[in-house]
Amino acid sequence: MRYGYFSDEEREYVINRPDTPLPWLNYLGTDSYFGIISNTAGGYSFYRDARLRRLTRYRYNNVPSDFGGRYLYLRDDASGAYWSPTWQPTQSELDHYECRHGLSYTRITSAYQGVRAETLYFVPLGETLEVWRLRVTNERTTPLDLSVFSSVEFCLWDALDDASNFQRNYSIGQVEVVDDVIYHKTEYRERRDHFAYFACSEPLAGFDTQRESFLGPYRGFDRPIVVEQGASNRSIAHGWAPHGSHHVKVSLAPGETREVIFVLGYWENPRDAKFDPPGSQTINKTLVRPVIDRWRRPEVVAEGFQQLRDYWSSLLSVVQVNTPDTDTDRMVNIWNPYQCLVTFNLSRSASGYESGIGRGMGFRDTTQDLLGFVHMVPERSRERLLDVAATQLPTGGAYHQYQPFTKRGNDGIGSGFNDDPLWLIMAVAAYLKETGDWSVLDEPVPYDNTPGTETPLYEHLQRSLKYTLDRLGPHGLPLIGRADWNDCLNLNCFSETPGEPFQTTANREGGVAESVFIAGLFVLAAKELAGIAQARSRPEEAAGYRAEAEKMTGAITEHAWDGAWVRRAYDYFGNLIGSSENDEGQIFIEPQGMCIMAGVGLEDGMATRALASVRERLATEHGIVLQQPAYSRYYVELGEISSYPPGYKENASVFCHTNPWIMVAEAMANHGDEAFHYYKLINPSAREAISEIHRCEPYVYAQTIAGKDAPTFGEAKNSWLTGTAAWNLVAISQWILGIRPDFDGLVVDPVLPSAWEGFTATRRFRGATYEITVRKPAGVRGRVDHLVVDGVRTEGNLIPPAPPGSTVRVEATIG
Ligand code: BGC
Ligand code: NOJ
Repeated sequence: MRYGYFSDEEREYVINRPDTPLPWLNYLGTDSYFGIISNTAGGYSFYRDARLRRLTRYRYNNVPSDFGGRYLYLRDDASGAYWSPTWQPTQSELDHYECRHGLSYTRITSAYQGVRAETLYFVPLGETLEVWRLRVTNERTTPLDLSVFSSVEFCLWDALDDASNFQRNYSIGQVEVVDDVIYHKTEYRERRDHFAYFACSEPLAGFDTQRESFLGPYRGFDRPIVVEQGASNRSIAHGWAPHGSHHVKVSLAPGETREVIFVLGYWENPRDAKFDPPGSQTINKTLVRPVIDRWRRPEVVAEGFQQLRDYWSSLLSVVQVNTPDTDTDRMVNIWNPYQCLVTFNLSRSASGYESGIGRGMGFRDTTQDLLGFVHMVPERSRERLLDVAATQLPTGGAYHQYQPFTKRGNDGIGSGFNDDPLWLIMAVAAYLKETGDWSVLDEPVPYDNTPGTETPLYEHLQRSLKYTLDRLGPHGLPLIGRADWNDCLNLNCFSETPGEPFQTTANREGGVAESVFIAGLFVLAAKELAGIAQARSRPEEAAGYRAEAEKMTGAITEHAWDGAWVRRAYDYFGNLIGSSENDEGQIFIEPQGMCIMAGVGLEDGMATRALASVRERLATEHGIVLQQPAYSRYYVELGEISSYPPGYKENASVFCHTNPWIMVAEAMANHGDEAFHYYKLINPSAREAISEIHRCEPYVYAQTIAGKDAPTFGEAKNSWLTGTAAWNLVAISQWILGIRPDFDGLVVDPVLPSAWEGFTATRRFRGATYEITVRKPAGVRGRVDHLVVDGVRTEGNLIPPAPPGSTVRVEATIG
């Protein structure tokens, strides 16, 4: 069952009923001012940090869900009837409803008793504000007197404090209303130099800034007293709950359309120019006023919206493909890169499932997010790489997270997730392959942000690799530390206390828990660093890394091969995990994917055998589950993984992030049908038709899909902020379609499903444009052995970089 459809032409997902199984979300903002917005205008906004600069309030885990938002109310002043043109919060029976989620904008259209309303929400490029453009049309045959009310609940900046410290917060709220603009200035009198504003393009009939005055005592957002009575109270908030509501009266002749623009924004004043007049307590508005006035103008809004559309056209034009499969095309060309920009910007901080108050930028998260983003905005990727590397510790280890605001490592979470540093090598390698910008390796970067400790970025990579080598266990495999990619495999934790955080609780000393996943990642990262060293004319160093990779491969083959698949780990006591010897958790997906991606077992048949085991034991119709059999009880020696009921999260759900590793592995093993089959199983667009089962948005990946052990098998959870986005884009575009940047140029090496007869693609790479045509007779499997580049036969699959500005025609024939 569907709740909407894709409009590929417009690059929109069109939702045609408001009661989607879960709030179906979109994001506003591309750079520093962000918001989440649901298909019924729920959600909230913040400047850069969802906790520390939260503009508006949102209530997670509410009933009904998705409460708090960018709400409008329309009121027919003749009859007194009122409704929400975005359905929430009045939930009136609309005669027509449509929500179009586009790239960084959302447009919700409805009709009610002959009044059509279309609201467009977006954040203009480079601005710290959002625009709501309401267009109302009188579709009746008689004149209409309409009242429009807006409504936002201001959050008192620190979203955690806002939801907990009421004894203080109920006394600190402050606003100003000047020239019809509502300014929210709580704590501006002391250490904050920032305030929020909420403005409207039309003269006001009234306003309210105290929530209770707007709603009326004991009333909810579904029936505010002010809207019911059709008149604002001009309330000024002193403490309690500062609110923003405008009242605008609009008279419309039959057929007439009017536009009302609302602007909600964030502004920072210089500390020495906060007040006007100086010495007063009044906000200095001289700097912000021109911005407000500008964005209230319809032509500026129209132009700003067009610029946003053009920005996306330009970002997406880097990779465009035309394949026989619609689900592939729309994900590769539109939605998957879009999700990658969102994960790059927000890491795991603010979504429908991440509260925005908990988590900073994960070291391994942001380095992996970059893999799906680097081709779109290399400059921001470079900056991110340097930021993240600056949080690295002198040992080569890494803070597991850092704060986006301060860019400092997060002491609360600490370090010791032993896979973390290796991802830095992966991300830097991806950046170099995409851009050829070798100068980044010479950038001086400190350790733990300590001035004076700078070394070239290159040395950070060397230390990353050494970090693993300094921490090997009895089988020559890497010690796992707190956890590896699987945050929930906590082999040194032994937690018996309810509520104790598995990832930060003091670990038991003296264990020898080793991770085969890190071993695989090490081999991959060592080979990447060897490639970098080679390109930097350090052949001996490169040979050294290759030797380490060989040695680790030996350890995997000797101590981690279980006969039909790769084992997962050795526990604290040296017992096996992910082996046929175990009763539960016999086979895990992660080491199969990672070891094969690193090239382990590709030559001796191990990889093929392991992939067959994945197919036999882990693959389901909803994707590949993380492990089998699921853990049926809590194992203190395994930690959080066994805290989840079977089929959920790390305990045997389809943890989508890991599936593309198997797709890549299948492609490396020349199994195009298998790789593509797995790709389609979790491709959100391909799951649109089962939206009543999948339940999450059909245009973005979710973190998990409940596994076969769960009663809700097939149900997705935790959409949007997941490393799944980056890795699926890598798997489909670089390995299945096979268009892959490498240090020395662009590789074209597709591993296609046998039924396909080829595809075409455009790829911008280091300033040149490659027009690629791949041909293959149906039924044939195989790889390219040569390319025809601008009419000239070139052996192999690598095209050296062409001069910037040029267009290169590439033909590849398989079979
Ligand atoms: C989740 C993991 C996540 C971790 C972060 C756990 O509860 O299951 O997916 O990585 O929290 O700390
Ligand atoms: C989500 C976390 O953000 C990520 O870092 C981790 O690898 C996965 N969960 C698996 O535990």
